[in-house]
Amino acid sequence: MKIPFFDLKRQANFLKNEVLMEIEKVIDRCEFSLGYAVEEFERNFSQYLGAKHVVALNSGTSALFLALKSLNISEEDEIILPSWTFIATAWSVSYLNAKIVFADVDEETWQIDPNDVRRKITKKTRAIIGVHIYGQPFDVKRILDISKEYNLHLIEDCAQAHGAEYYQKKVGTFGIVNAFSFYPTKNLGSFGEAGAVSTNIEDISNRIKILRNQGQKQKYEHVEVGYNMRMEGFQGAILNIKLKHLDMWNERRREIANKYMSKINNPKITFQKLVEGGKGVYHLFVVKLKDREKFVKHLEKFGIGYAFHYPKPIHLQKAYAHLNYKENSLPVSEELAKTTVSIPIFPELTDEEVDYIIDVINNF
Ligand SMILES: Cc1ncc(COP(=O)(O)O)c(C=O)c1O
Repeated sequence: MKIPFFDLKRQANFLKNEVLMEIEKVIDRCEFSLGYAVEEFERNFSQYLGAKHVVALNSGTSALFLALKSLNISEEDEIILPSWTFIATAWSVSYLNAKIVFADVDEETWQIDPNDVRRKITKKTRAIIGVHIYGQPFDVKRILDISKEYNLHLIEDCAQAHGAEYYQKKVGTFGIVNAFSFYPTKNLGSFGEAGAVSTNIEDISNRIKILRNQGQKQKYEHVEVGYNMRMEGFQGAILNIKLKHLDMWNERRREIANKYMSKINNPKITFQKLVEGGKGVYHLFVVKLKDREKFVKHLEKFGIGYAFHYPKPIHLQKAYAHLNYKENSLPVSEELAKTTVSIPIFPELTDEEVDYIIDVINNF
């Protein structure tokens, strides 16, 4: 059997006819940039999250950047974020010339470590960016408590966690302003590039609407230096269709993940431990083991796709060499980079494929 790490075609084929109909409507109305479909998506997604406002953007990277920008983060400020994430979490800080301070992650949950966050707070710290890595919520309560104690902003990076919950509340409703990516491979993915912020604060929502649209409050009234970070009409229309399926898809991901966790009994393998109160959406399913090279050869031999998330932590990337982080400065992140492997998880995997993956892993 041959099982790809991820197969977007299965979902695209399922949605194709409906998508074509909605795309046609956008063409008929010629609302290609923002417009009715994007406004509808903003309403639908804010309702889904239970957040007062959603502002639709052109990527998750833009969402993180405008989130920080709306809080007036500048060169003087330090922002704490985990090194164990996709690098875009860090870009947002760099774009504003603020200082990145990397925190390590917890050994068992692989989520931002509240103890390390506490150690890294200085007089200049202004915000913490928490990342719900792999679609599992981080320890929101402990991070929120720290942010309140030191009067810091909390920003949630929800790029991998659409629909995940923390004590029955959706992620993306705990931070002051939070970022989502709708990159095609995400649990809720566009047919291109897209992102959004969520917030309960009207002033922040209004400011981000101005910033995304060339700094315009109204046409040709530019109140500050702005950007072109608007969502396209096509993406809004497609996201409206896909949002209706999100809970069903997430449920199927949970079903597969639960099967992996109950049926993979190979003692060499460990799983990510879930934070108490967290209900994850398994954007990725990542296993940890010592002998990674032999393991991936075994997967290859049996036709199973895999990936590394991530092969190198951000603090050791060349782009951040100027920050002078040395090896062993964030030992858990560095260890995870050497010992983790992502195995296939997407809603369209068949039961037969899931069983085959479990058998192959148990026979390693
Ligand atoms: C954790 C995380 N943050 C930010 C991003 C950036 O989102 P985008 O690719 O939409 O810019 C991604 C995904 O790519 C991500 O996984």
